[in-house]
Amino acid sequence: MLKRVVVTGASSGIGAATVRRFAELGWQVVAVARRADRLRELADETGAHAIVCDITDEEAVRRMAAEVAETGGASALVNNAGGAIGTDSVEASDNDEWRSMFEVNVLGLRSVTAALLPVLREATRAGEGGAKHGWASILNLTSTAGLAAYPGGGGYNAAKYAAHAVTEVLRFELAGEPIRVMELAPGLVHTEEFTLNRLRGDAENAEKPYENLIPLTAEDVAQVLVGAFEQPPHVNQDLIVIRPVAQSSVFHAHRGPLAAKTQEQ
Ligand SMILES: NC(=O)c1ccc[n+]([C@@H]2O[C@H](COP(=O)([O-])OP(=O)(O)OC[C@H]3O[C@@H](n4cnc5c(N)ncnc54)[C@H](OP(=O)(O)O)[C@@H]3O)[C@@H](O)[C@H]2O)c1
Repeated sequence: MLKRVVVTGASSGIGAATVRRFAELGWQVVAVARRADRLRELADETGAHAIVCDITDEEAVRRMAAEVAETGGASALVNNAGGAIGTDSVEASDNDEWRSMFEVNVLGLRSVTAALLPVLREATRAGEGGAKHGWASILNLTSTAGLAAYPGGGGYNAAKYAAHAVTEVLRFELAGEPIRVMELAPGLVHTEEFTLNRLRGDAENAEKPYENLIPLTAEDVAQVLVGAFEQPPHVNQDLIVIRPVAQSSVFHAHRGPLAAKTQEQ
């Protein structure tokens, strides 16, 4: 079976760790993001094929999909590019920021998926060893922010809820095809840019969510994510939720050491 995967948002954080993990396991990887210099370094390190593409630009997405097809096709897609801007209330939010979150987390995911579906279908047409068909897989990286709202979640909650809904719609629409549609929703992940971007560059406060607890790392998420692709291809993990042990919901993060309760507690 063709093992070539397209990973969007590959230039940092979870996307870059995902590219590394796939490459370690022998997959061919196409790494997609806007920053060419970072992609080039990752390509040198992992052997990935880098494509510079802003996923909010539909024409650029079509060119990216054509390049994927011309350079060997793909049997797998990870829609990881995304992010948050701001923690303002609904009342105080800025529509331009909401629009840009919707553009990347929802519309970009849709454009990439639509442009690559014909490429994924092509991969399913080539069965091996007497099999009638091969398989393809799509995984959307949403968030626990797409499953539970919280004050200040605003546009990010709205965008990730929408990405969650799009994933479910797609699974219905592709029923009957040998294409699985999966979703991974992480809680708190310490990546170098996510909170910095969310807080519009405020480096001092960007570290606060990760203080006094052990958050997930990009590598933790990549390990679980790639594990979903490594399952037998008829196994569709619809929704995988992953959080640090210290975080039991979007509202509950235990700060300080973890300790087993005594009998009195
Ligand atoms: N960190 C967390 O706590 C957390 C938790 C749950 C879910 N998530 C989700 O996980 C995903 C990755 O998060 P992360 O923490 O790894 O964030 P990150 O380090 O900020 O990475 C975001 C990636 O998306 C790319 N990207 C952004 N806009 C893009 C565009 N228009 N076109 C193409 N690529 C674009 C960025 O690359 P360029 O700037 O080079 O384009 C970057 O590689 C996101 O969808 C995020 O919402 C994160």
